[in-house]
Amino acid sequence: MLREVYAAHFPVGAAIQRSQIASATPDRAILAAQFSSITAEYEMKPDIIAPTQGSYDWSRSDALMDWAEANGIAVRGHALLWHQTTPAWFLSGSPADIRAKLQQYVTDVVSRYAGRIHAWDVVNEVASDSGGGTAPYRDSNWYQAVGNGDYIDWAFEAARAADPACKLFINDYNTELPAKRARYLEIIADLLARGVPLDGVGHQFHLQINADPADSLAAIDAVDALGAGLENHATEIDVSVYSDPGECFAGGVNCAASYGSQAANVPASVYAAQAQIYRGLFDGFVQRPSVTSVTVWGLHDGQSWLNSFPVSRNNYPLLFDPDRQPKPAFHAVTDPAYVI
Ligand code: G3I
Repeated sequence: MLREVYAAHFPVGAAIQRSQIASATPDRAILAAQFSSITAEYEMKPDIIAPTQGSYDWSRSDALMDWAEANGIAVRGHALLWHQTTPAWFLSGSPADIRAKLQQYVTDVVSRYAGRIHAWDVVNEVASDSGGGTAPYRDSNWYQAVGNGDYIDWAFEAARAADPACKLFINDYNTELPAKRARYLEIIADLLARGVPLDGVGHQFHLQINADPADSLAAIDAVDALGAGLENHATEIDVSVYSDPGECFAGGVNCAASYGSQAANVPASVYAAQAQIYRGLFDGFVQRPSVTSVTVWGLHDGQSWLNSFPVSRNNYPLLFDPDRQPKPAFHAVTDPAYVI
């Protein structure tokens, strides 16, 4: 079982949705048997908890929290602030108004789960994907409304005050790419220099089939090299079975041809390459004590966001196939004797 194999190193998690654990589904059985952590794929984000100012809907976040707790499974909170899931009410008014609303939201959410959620992605994807302009910060709705990156400080400070024992993370993607990583680390170093309460760095690791695990492990090592004792979480791992060019992500053109709707149509060589990448990642995480949590972004291929990003196309990026059967990648990370 996945959770036992890595029990001495880190919890192994999956991103899930309330529907997967709301009844006696096959998903619920696999999650309880194999995983020791969960992340709410979308139901602990502000657009779900607080779509309108002054009222909260805890129904879905509570259901996930209660199930995980009843099954001895850790919960990574995700995410208190993300430009893509920020209801408009957060961003109206002066920076002082925005700060007050943000800190009240963070206080209310983190307090509700204090002592139960052990780590939060406090801010998600605040680093820019390119240089110039507002770099190293993303030129997001938050940056534009506040005028600088101060909103990041505000979120961390409120989270620390609400639950001093909770580990507070910054989270982003493409940290395996040196240029993005440099901007990410610039933000992190600045937060540390100013005493902003930051405990760890999240690396999403949304990878493609041509990925080299060494690039992802270099991101862990770069955080360690800061010498700040920060933890590293691999927060959203998936390995697309495709290798798409930049224009596919930028505009949906020249994307790799789909293997179709049947998992069996994916060549065995592709599943083997995917298994090699997963094994390389997990072996590297085990060798790095600063890695204290590893999460794959979904239980099975059928639920993956990559079935609709960057284009609508069947993808098979996870450890279990759409029929909830373990794939070569699962065997590669649970059985050292498994020959890929
Ligand atoms: O399940 C409901 C369905 O019942 C309803 O009919 C439908 C239409 O309203 O919505 C469905 O929920 C959607 C959910 O995905 C499940 O498909 C939500 O609207 C949709 O917002 C949600 O998108 C999630 C997205 O974050 C935004 O929260 C994706 O699942 C999730 O994979 C994605 O995850 C992000 C990470 O948080 C940050 N890193 C990137 C990653 C991928 O974008």
